[in-house]
Amino acid sequence: MEAGVRSYEEAFSPYWYPVAFSHELKERPLAARLLGRELVVWRVGSGVAATQRYCAHRGADLCAGEVSAEGLRCAFHGWTYGQDGRCVRVPSQPGAPIPARAALASFRAVERYGLVWICLDASSQEALPEWPELESGKVATVALPRLDWEVSAGRLMEIILDVTHLSWVHKGTFGNPEQQEVLSYEVARLPGGLRTQITYPALSPALEGAPPRVDKTTLTYDVTLPFAVRLSFKPTLFFQHTVYAIASPWSEEKAQCFYFSSYHPAIKQFPDIFVKSELAILEQDRLIAEGQRPKAHPLDFSGEVHVKADRLPIEYRRGVIALRTGRPVDGPPPE
Ligand code: FES
Ligand SMILES: [Fe+2]
Repeated sequence: MEAGVRSYEEAFSPYWYPVAFSHELKERPLAARLLGRELVVWRVGSGVAATQRYCAHRGADLCAGEVSAEGLRCAFHGWTYGQDGRCVRVPSQPGAPIPARAALASFRAVERYGLVWICLDASSQEALPEWPELESGKVATVALPRLDWEVSAGRLMEIILDVTHLSWVHKGTFGNPEQQEVLSYEVARLPGGLRTQITYPALSPALEGAPPRVDKTTLTYDVTLPFAVRLSFKPTLFFQHTVYAIASPWSEEKAQCFYFSSYHPAIKQFPDIFVKSELAILEQDRLIAEGQRPKAHPLDFSGEVHVKADRLPIEYRRGVIALRTGRPVDGPPPE
């Protein structure tokens, strides 16, 4: 690794990542994975707790345990752990002091925007993305099943931010093969993120048997580094909606993505249309992204060729490289 480049795990540990949709976490503890760590999450009182997945006693899988009023109880011998990871009960010797090493690594966990988020770095000052409209009470949301792709989080974000692939990869869903040229667009660099707006003559989904029509759509990309994007769609024919995609890195080469949309609650048919069409669109992306090499998100620009139309993914990559190296980097001159 190049001098000054931190490991993937070290560089990205200070940020918050979703590990589950809120609706997936019920009374049973749930397994989670993040940056090489195996975790278990469970509900406590009004919040959520996250610790290492395997019991400090004999390594049993705590996902098979039970949540009690005292904490998470291991299925093997009943040792019970509080939210802070400390063992509070050893049933085989109730009167004896609990060994100091009977503890699990524990992590900050919060529930927000319908997701359970974890931050692995206890000293981090980083915050969750700010998406106040989701807490305004004015929008409804619909989530896709988690996207479980064999891609790095950075590659996954880059295909979402790639404005040039729409007419190629998304033929048959919303891509317009007549529109190959990408008109010049600007990318604003913001603290901790990026923002871009483009217009695209999408082919609207064929609703109620009507043939697809060109639907001039304004797309606003709003990136929160390292791996979250809010993408609002203002079409002229289809429904306005906003998509949220957050990649949660398992390792440098593998991520899951939590993907959902907000929409006006009066549009009762939106969830069905959205889930069906978006899954078809994302499957087109997955086939391309899983085939890209190297699998790891490149840490420089030298191994690929960059043109002006790639401005948004280039700026995104600049931001990610800066987090990894700890210093700002110049993008490549467009070729
Ligand atoms: S392995 Fe968990 S209590 Fe023994
Ligand atoms: Fe795409």
